[in-house]
Amino acid sequence: MPFRFSREAYECRVAWYTQARFGMFLHWGLYAIPARGEWVRSVERIPSEVYDRYMREFNPKDCDMRRWMAAAKGAGARYAVLTAKHHDGFCLFDSAYTDFKSTNSPAGRDFVREFVEAAREFDIRVGLYFSLIDWHHPDFPHCGDRNRPMRGDAGFSDEGRDFGRYLDFMHAQVRELCSNYGKLDILWFDFSYDGLRGEAWRGTELMKMVRALQPDVVVNNRLEVSGEGLGSLAACAPTPYHGDFVTPEQIAPLDGLCDAQGTPLVWESCITMNNHWGYCAGDHFYKPAPMLIRKLVECVSKGGNLLLNVGPDAQGRFPKESFEALNRIGEWLGENGESVYGCGPSGLPKPEYGRFTRNGDRLYVHIFENTLGPLPLFGLDREDIVAVRRLADGSEVPISTSWVHSGYPDIVFADLGPDPVLPDLTDTVLEVRLRSGAPTN
Ligand code: GLC
Repeated sequence: MPFRFSREAYECRVAWYTQARFGMFLHWGLYAIPARGEWVRSVERIPSEVYDRYMREFNPKDCDMRRWMAAAKGAGARYAVLTAKHHDGFCLFDSAYTDFKSTNSPAGRDFVREFVEAAREFDIRVGLYFSLIDWHHPDFPHCGDRNRPMRGDAGFSDEGRDFGRYLDFMHAQVRELCSNYGKLDILWFDFSYDGLRGEAWRGTELMKMVRALQPDVVVNNRLEVSGEGLGSLAACAPTPYHGDFVTPEQIAPLDGLCDAQGTPLVWESCITMNNHWGYCAGDHFYKPAPMLIRKLVECVSKGGNLLLNVGPDAQGRFPKESFEALNRIGEWLGENGESVYGCGPSGLPKPEYGRFTRNGDRLYVHIFENTLGPLPLFGLDREDIVAVRRLADGSEVPISTSWVHSGYPDIVFADLGPDPVLPDLTDTVLEVRLRSGAPTN
């Protein structure tokens, strides 16, 4: 039967995802041992026979997926995405199609199974990242591939490599993940580039199988593009392998994202806490928790999600900096989560002191820096405001009657009181209860 895109089915499928707003990305695998990031094999052009030795020692004694998911829950993440297999080809699941897997390592464990079970125990939606690329597989092309670890090495040729056989293998592994680990909520493919996109992956066949096994799974756009590019749904010409969401990487789109007809797109910014996805022992350039909180609010204010990465080490532990940031994010969301979950753009111009998010008749005013005197609630009509409360403690915030803003009779001001120091220096949130559910202007 020819592919027919159903907007209704699509919007039903992504409804939970756009409400969730905040997820945890987990990049973990053999590359945690060299501890120089997940691209170490390609960047340092490490031959397979050298890199594969890491499998012989992979035995993360401190890996406890329940602790990982407890940390995700504590941080307020509503979903989590684990790298079932990254570009190096090492599988964290018991694949019947390769020996290069965690169940064959000294660990002898199916970490994907432990992950999905722990995530469900903590009521966290389950996502699996799967690399379309596999530098370990003998049939994945060498020549002309700018990312291959042994690219340009005259000793390597594509002699005897059969890309069709590789695709059979790749599809078979996707089938394993879609068949053997229960209901998946997200499939996070990575990534398409140059001539390797769409039908080059046999994308129609792949997605027909995925949809048959996991009809409700939300799929990203990387069967078509990478972190750059939007995909066919954005072009209003959805292919059978269209992404359900766009995946801007290490950036928050400047103004949110819309399709060619101006309809808002579902999108998710994926970002690292430091500068590496996979564990990198020497990278201590961690984004401060307040910055991460404000980036989450920024994404939501622009109609998107944030997927925040953690790269556990070779023992299966979260880096201390990651753990601390997750705890602080969880504290803030514990007090202010209503201004993130289920929220989206306000329809109002961004205030200079912070951001707005909105959920129906609730407008959330995110104050990143205090103003001199009362706080202007740009774009709101006095008659439309039922009440203003500080979200964290529910305390009443009066509408200001001060003379200092008498020169601005058309703007409503909130009186934050005499203390110039905001209760939460990262983001103090006001909840404005409105009579109308629509933006006033
Ligand atoms: C890029 C990186 C890849 C990482 C992904 C996460 O594709 O190359 O290593 O897994 O981004 O979005």
